[in-house]
Amino acid sequence: MAEKFKEQAVVIRQEEISYGIYSMWLKTEQIAGKAKPGQFISLYCHDGSRMLPRPISICEIDAKDNALRIVYRVAGKGTEEFSGLSTGDSIEIVGPLGNGFPLKEKKAFLIGGGIGIPPMVELAKQLNCEKQMVLGYRDTLFLQEEFKGLGSMYVATEDGSYGTEGNVLDAIKENGLDAEIIYACGPTPMLKAIKEYAIANGIECWLSLEEKMACGIGACLACVCKSKEKDSHSNVNNKRVCKEGPVFRAEEVEF
Ligand code: FES
Repeated sequence: MAEKFKEQAVVIRQEEISYGIYSMWLKTEQIAGKAKPGQFISLYCHDGSRMLPRPISICEIDAKDNALRIVYRVAGKGTEEFSGLSTGDSIEIVGPLGNGFPLKEKKAFLIGGGIGIPPMVELAKQLNCEKQMVLGYRDTLFLQEEFKGLGSMYVATEDGSYGTEGNVLDAIKENGLDAEIIYACGPTPMLKAIKEYAIANGIECWLSLEEKMACGIGACLACVCKSKEKDSHSNVNNKRVCKEGPVFRAEEVEF
């Protein structure tokens, strides 16, 4: 298994980049130097009553300065506590966790939906191929600047306030796009639709199921997804998203 570390990271800076969505850069000791796109870290709350760490995907990696960026939505007490941290504060983290995306040199779609968009930033930076970013938002846009210069970008919004009205597949259709490989992260209905689209069109497809995670360290079993193959230990068709994923080949997972 890949090496992981438990560290006291220090907040470099934090800001709210959209309503309820925060961007935080963390200085790490070793984690950033080992991290790959599509992996995540788990963050511990200072409040001891919340024992389970919160898994959050890695948005950007600065390996040279051993810094990591996470972009997350405040969705409960844990993330609310993180959003109150400021420059110089420390926080216990574990990582890098999970398997990450395979980097292939094929014409690619990088598809992110909502809070599944952040991991696409580092993936776009590291992939060496023709890249088409297809980003789906409810209404307000965020992380737009980060993708500039990394490939072509297409946006879909549910309310049609920007780009294609509808979802990411509507944007692909409207713009007449095609690709040889798909990398995607976002809500389960979006991933399910992308899996069907990929299979129907014979496109290699990798899905990050991180939305389903809870403890992030293999302990709570809240993250199991149905898989095609039987787990060799338990002999059931389950996989833990945080341990065996969060990135899976589309054919491997059942929705
Ligand atoms: Fe707890 Fe995977 S999130 S076991």
